Amino acid sequence: MFNKRVKIKELLTWNPSGQEVTVMGWVRTFRNNQFIALNDGSTNTNLQIVVTLGQFDDEILKRITTSASLKVTGTVIPSQGKGQKLELKASAVEILGDSDPEKYPLQPKKHSLEFLREKAHLRFRTNTFGSIFRVRHSIAFAIHKFFHEKGFLYLHTPIITASDAEGAGEMFRVSTLPFDNPPRNDDGSINFREDFFGKSTNLTVSGQLEGELGATAFGDIYTFGPTFRAENSNTTRHLAEFWMVEPEMAFSDLEDNMNLAEEFIKYIIGFVMENNREDLEFLANRLAEEEKQLPADKRTDMPLLEKLEFVLNNNFERITYTEAIDILLQSPAYKKKKFQYEVKWGIDMQSEHERYLVEKHFKKPVIVTNYPKDIKAFYMRQNDDGKTVAAMDILAPGIGEIVGGSQREERMEKLEARMKEMHIPVDELWWYLDTRRFGTVPHAGFGLGFERMVLFVTGMGNIRDVIAFPRTPKSAEF
Ligand code: 4AD
Ligand code: MG
Repeated sequence: MFNKRVKIKELLTWNPSGQEVTVMGWVRTFRNNQFIALNDGSTNTNLQIVVTLGQFDDEILKRITTSASLKVTGTVIPSQGKGQKLELKASAVEILGDSDPEKYPLQPKKHSLEFLREKAHLRFRTNTFGSIFRVRHSIAFAIHKFFHEKGFLYLHTPIITASDAEGAGEMFRVSTLPFDNPPRNDDGSINFREDFFGKSTNLTVSGQLEGELGATAFGDIYTFGPTFRAENSNTTRHLAEFWMVEPEMAFSDLEDNMNLAEEFIKYIIGFVMENNREDLEFLANRLAEEEKQLPADKRTDMPLLEKLEFVLNNNFERITYTEAIDILLQSPAYKKKKFQYEVKWGIDMQSEHERYLVEKHFKKPVIVTNYPKDIKAFYMRQNDDGKTVAAMDILAPGIGEIVGGSQREERMEKLEARMKEMHIPVDELWWYLDTRRFGTVPHAGFGLGFERMVLFVTGMGNIRDVIAFPRTPKSAEF
């Protein structure tokens, strides 16, 4: 019977008074043949287990090695030593699984994040990754809680899609056709009518288009699922497989959209600050240590907890794209030719520009609105100036773009005209256009990059460290 075990996180809150308990976990260290530090993943704080000298066979003691798994029964007593309130005095120790210390890849010492990425199957057993993944879990939970409390319906949009029309990025093909000898049409092109779905299909880049179908029936919906982009971006901010949260609201405009997004981000931060204090403090210390190694001008302005507190308690800056470009053109960085990429009205801002606005100029999250229509998707609502659309991106310190969204073009003629201009196949998206044909309404929505949010909250620097098994160009291990 295994379910009688007490989790260490829970046990550590008890008043030690000789309670008999059973715990299970993995050995972190074993000192002096007497003190086991046991971890079960519920918290970074290990439980100290005391084995009285002479009580157990040497044969058993020899097998208590780093990462061996144990079942220990004993009594909870006030700790004799410093550093912990209580400890477990063992009466029975059972080795559930041995771990050869010569072969176990992780040593009880500090490993680099790069090294741990190669050992991603075991890195959960370190304090850093323990904290990251407990925080990641909490953020996911907070997301569902936030939307549920607001009456949003969680809609599961498909992962396999036949529409490659959104233009959000390069797609991964889904096919069962033989690579070496696919069926062909008379003109030599591949005959996808013979493929599994009878047409060409891909992994989705976004659940938005289907999300809009949900919003125009349920009012408010959100999706939260995996999305795939086959762009060859080997950066610390891009994954080929990532998770996106996409709320979509009927009867909403750009301002409602911005308000929801800001409230949403603050809610997540507040939730984690309240529920994951210990893990955040651990990550804050980790970051502070890491920053000490950096030259002064590379360090961030604020320690992690202060940064989160600051974002929670201050309004996001709201500016138009045109204002953003003006700020960049007036900036000392521009005048000293510090930007690698060109700055002028019409550019798709590069990460160096976004980070300048957020980290140097405003020093807080910034919502940029009303982008040029030519750098944004076909479905964004066209503004009266004829040049811009009702888009909004949220840029976060240390991250860059964390949210992308817009008010949608609900006017059928305008939408169709724009699709034709952009060579989007109108007949393929007949089902999408039906929302505009039958009871169209003003509506808006956005996408939050889940891993970018986890990066922001944990203070980690590389997106590969906040997803369990990262998929990036040339890498799909584990
Ligand atoms: O700005 P994006 O491309 O927007 C959309 O896909 C819209 N359909 C969203 C909507 O309006 N419903 O992506 C949204 C967010 C980005 O702001 C970014 O945070 C994240 O998704 N993102 C990525 N995260 C990790 N790796 C990638 N390759 C990402 N691409 C986008
Ligand atoms: Mg975007």
